[in-house]
Amino acid sequence: MRDDVRTGPGLDLLIKHVSPRPGERALDVATGSGHMALALARAGACVTVTDLTPPMLEEARLHLESEGMAAVYELADAMSLPFPDASFNIVTCRIAAHHFEDAQLFFSEVARVLVPGGRLGFQDHALPPQRTSAVMVDAFQRLRDPGHNQAFSVEGWSTLAQRAGLEVGFTALVDKRRDFAQWVSAQGCSADVVEELSELMAECPDAMREWSAAEYDDGNFVSFRNRHVVMLARKPS
Ligand SMILES: C[S@@+](CC[C@H](N)C(=O)[O-])C[C@H]1O[C@@H](n2cnc3c(N)ncnc32)[C@H](O)[C@@H]1O
Repeated sequence: MRDDVRTGPGLDLLIKHVSPRPGERALDVATGSGHMALALARAGACVTVTDLTPPMLEEARLHLESEGMAAVYELADAMSLPFPDASFNIVTCRIAAHHFEDAQLFFSEVARVLVPGGRLGFQDHALPPQRTSAVMVDAFQRLRDPGHNQAFSVEGWSTLAQRAGLEVGFTALVDKRRDFAQWVSAQGCSADVVEELSELMAECPDAMREWSAAEYDDGNFVSFRNRHVVMLARKPS
């Protein structure tokens, strides 16, 4: 499946599996521009929108308001959520947990703030299951974006959720083909970093090559496949 940050099957799958009902209390963690929060609000949930940084929270607020949607906005670190236990029916976190210094702490916080039976909808970078390739795919992402702390395989993310006491009910991979030139330019990478990224992809093990499905044109690295996991987990009733 291909994915897009604003719409796309990642967001659609999360909404389908989290299935928010009107009036349910939903928390969107690390909201960024607020695409997930907007989808929750449109489904009728009472949404609390959080992010670590004031500019991102403001961007999300303007986004939701421009769509006529109301929400509560609060600055919050995903690893220390400023909400009492059992505050929410739904927690979502989309394409952000790879930034967190301690993803396990984040999942524990999710388990704490969910009501019994509450659902977590989660999306983030997925690493290949083979260890050497996983380390290299993670390094490839971190080289382009130093804010990338750590991603995990589908099994790795599931294990973190399970260790926090959540039951994992559904996982799927969604793919997005990335134009390499656009991908590095969006991040403002230097020529040296672009060169290093190309080399990393050229010299990677077969398992990473297969995972990333790199494409070349006339010997130049032009695109690769970015893979995300979409996961639904539930706090036991
Ligand atoms: C790629 S954006 C998120 C995209 C967004 N969730 C969506 O659905 O389109 C990553 C966000 O994570 C936030 N972030 C990074 N570390 C965080 C932390 N420790 N706690 C909360 N938010 C954090 C950043 O400020 C940024 O807004």
